[in-house]
Amino acid sequence: MILILDFGSQYTQLIARRIREAQVYCEIYPGTKNINEIAHIKDVKGIILSGGHASVYEKEAPWPCDDVWKTGVPILGICYGMQLIAENFGGKVHPSKNREFGFADITVKGKNLLFDGLDKKMPVWMSHGDKLSKIPKGFINIASSKNCPRAAIVDAKNNIYGVQFHPEVKHSPFGKKILDNFLFKICKLKKDWTMKSYIKDEIGRIKKQVGNSKVLCALSGGVDSSVAAIMLYRAIGKKLVCVYVDHGLQKLGETERVKKVFGPKFGKNLIIVDAKKIFLNKLKGVTDPELKRKIIGHTFIEVFDREAKKLKGIDFLLQGTIYPDVIESATHGAGVTIKSHHNVGGLPEKMKMKLVEPLKSLFKDEVRILGRELKVPAEIINRQPFPGPGLAVRTLGEITEEKLRIVKEADAIVDEEIRKAGLYEKIWQSFAVILPVKTVGVMGDKRTYEYVIVVRAVNSEDAMTADWVKLPYDILGRISSRIINEVRGANRVVYDISQKPPSTIEWE
Ligand code: XMP
Repeated sequence: MILILDFGSQYTQLIARRIREAQVYCEIYPGTKNINEIAHIKDVKGIILSGGHASVYEKEAPWPCDDVWKTGVPILGICYGMQLIAENFGGKVHPSKNREFGFADITVKGKNLLFDGLDKKMPVWMSHGDKLSKIPKGFINIASSKNCPRAAIVDAKNNIYGVQFHPEVKHSPFGKKILDNFLFKICKLKKDWTMKSYIKDEIGRIKKQVGNSKVLCALSGGVDSSVAAIMLYRAIGKKLVCVYVDHGLQKLGETERVKKVFGPKFGKNLIIVDAKKIFLNKLKGVTDPELKRKIIGHTFIEVFDREAKKLKGIDFLLQGTIYPDVIESATHGAGVTIKSHHNVGGLPEKMKMKLVEPLKSLFKDEVRILGRELKVPAEIINRQPFPGPGLAVRTLGEITEEKLRIVKEADAIVDEEIRKAGLYEKIWQSFAVILPVKTVGVMGDKRTYEYVIVVRAVNSEDAMTADWVKLPYDILGRISSRIINEVRGANRVVYDISQKPPSTIEWE
């Protein structure tokens, strides 16, 4: 595998994606991690030092542990990573007069494995404020741009390479070839990480881990828990027990969908718990968004716990944790709580079960590829993200049975029209929100006084930022008139045209 040490670049996950696309397994760790603590360090055949926003000459700059330089495996430093290499081996890095952001043309000098098979001149993506002012001893300069005379360096004897630009971003059109050269020509790796091999290895690992015990799964019907459940079923069959908590905050028809998709396979090992009344009671009178989220999280654990206690001989809990949730990062984390996200994260500690996490090393799109490989139905795999607390965060103000019915019916119309228009899989999320205000309308000859529905459709790469979708007017018009005509209790529809940030995707 390739070890990626993260020094805080916004592109670190992209490096990992590119490497996995090249069918090589890789893992990301904080840049300062003691690499001797990494369990499979012996399998590391190459190390990539990521970019980052610090400057190597600053006192607080993050630095890799000394042993990184002693492993003997090839190293590639990208941007800040190259500057670390330079400083470490006696070169010099200085702030440059002209910061360089955007496209630059580099010219490659001489022959070397990193640029093997590429033209002498190529465009690359630069993003740096510092540059190399002195190349360390033992290294040579192998590329330059107008603003950056030392754009790539190599110590060919020790297989240590550095590039000032970002080969991992799409804006470096030959970046993939450069990374491939590093993987296959320099590290001499093989393309052996495919979903088929992942399934085979992972099933073997799960069988070994679980033995004859039973595994409990909190199935939500979302992509991750569904793919995780099917994966486990492949590995251990009837020893998997799935509990689906029907809290009444799901999309219209969700419980029936879960029964239809998983019922035939899991049989009586699919337990559906009707907890609608419990959740509604606990949420009675609650309007504060954070309190709603907390109540839902706790109630979920309570209900799930009660069900689990009824079952005997269960030692493991299945979790659909995915890789972005587990990447220990030196720079991410420790943020301000904007919304406390509710997943099943609180369960294990309370329930004293060991964890099975078959998706722990996969990115979201890899989970979808895995799902397809496992023949999980497309209606599940291609679903848009749906928040853990469900429609509670789309029912503003107090959650009542009436408001829930209205938002569910409106949401189903949005869903249907967006699908009909062929946009469902092109849009990150599209849904309805109900506001806690009523407005006056007229229907037939009668005055109406009913709720307002908001339609929201956003595009996003990673949910960190999002933009509203410029939906065609005729689709918006159809959604609006259908909601007003078909949903009892709603007489006005508005479209949300706010970006994230400063707004968020969900309304609460
Ligand atoms: P926001 O509203 O923070 O949402 O812009 C970002 C993304 O996260 C989803 N979301 C959640 N997902 N549990 C989840 O699993 C949650 O509590 C939760 N809250 C928001 C939201 O749908 C969007 O995709």
